[in-house]
Amino acid sequence: MKEKLEKEVSSVRETLTKKLSEIQDKRSILRAPELRALYDRISDLEPQDKAAFGQAVNALKNELTSLVNSDEQETLEPIDVTAPFGVNVKEANRHKLLSPSLGSIHPISSELKLISEIFLSMGFNVVESREIDDDFHMFSSLNFPEGHPARDDYDTFMLDQKDDAGRPLIAPAHTSTMQNRILHQYSNNLEKGMPIAAVIPGRVFRNEDLDARHEHTFYQVEGIYVSESVSIGNLIATLKTFLMSYFGKDSLEVKTQPFYFPFTEPSLEFSMSCPFCDNKGCRICSYSGWIELLGCGVIHPNVLKAANIDSARYSGYAWGMGVDRLIMMKKGVEDVRLFHSGRLEFLRQFSPGDSK
Ligand code: DAH
Repeated sequence: MKEKLEKEVSSVRETLTKKLSEIQDKRSILRAPELRALYDRISDLEPQDKAAFGQAVNALKNELTSLVNSDEQETLEPIDVTAPFGVNVKEANRHKLLSPSLGSIHPISSELKLISEIFLSMGFNVVESREIDDDFHMFSSLNFPEGHPARDDYDTFMLDQKDDAGRPLIAPAHTSTMQNRILHQYSNNLEKGMPIAAVIPGRVFRNEDLDARHEHTFYQVEGIYVSESVSIGNLIATLKTFLMSYFGKDSLEVKTQPFYFPFTEPSLEFSMSCPFCDNKGCRICSYSGWIELLGCGVIHPNVLKAANIDSARYSGYAWGMGVDRLIMMKKGVEDVRLFHSGRLEFLRQFSPGDSK
């Protein structure tokens, strides 16, 4: 290859290796205009120079790629994820953090946003749940009498701190903890002749034996609707409308079967026809054609009473839907533990513009 051409490649090599040591988003070097310009040069060259020049440019690209890869694999010093903002991004530490451009929205966050938007478009308010709560909201306000065995189904984590009644604070095992607050917060709606309609996405906790389908920390979306004349038909239609929108289907079959929750009467377990095989049976629905999705029912009068709502006049429905399994199904994720694993190779699969 002509000396002049060799020089062109080595000068770009010099520029880009220097640049690589200075920039945060190392991978962007592979899209550097200098490199692209070398590739563009190939078509203008004399036929006898093309092959050698092309090889030299490819070799440069490979060199840069392996520099980028080895930089990404370098073990990063652990950081204190609980530290106040700024501690981990001190100038001296900054290079140890991955560049924000390598990050992406977590699949749970993006799906919760989508779910919330669908319910917003259906007239529901969206309210976030809490990650520390008390016995009243977790149990008493939801018609779990003191010492009732149904409390055992919601075995979760307790804090050392106590509430005003001297009971330990609780990491909530369901988003139903928010029902009493929502009923209070929006009770004016009823006086104005408007319904109470809210969905509550939130993180919940349970004392679980962990496996591919069970996590100690997962997500639910609670729904609550109260007005003067509410029927189970309204509940089923609402959930069906949501699911058709979420799965992009024109039609879906749903079915319910009786269940028990202290806070609803009647209580139902709600299933939908598998949206991946249209009820024919596939791996995702374990060849049953149905997917069990959530618990729901007509709100127990005691739950309305606990929020000072006249249960003779008003009635409502509620549901609690596990979100992790829904997302696992939709995205083909086989192990729920991946969501909180912090594994970049898992998370990057959900990053829209990233082809890696
Ligand atoms: N909180 C229940 C659970 O986590 C789910 C549930 C069932 C929520 C029925 C509701 C409901 O609001 O009405 O198991």
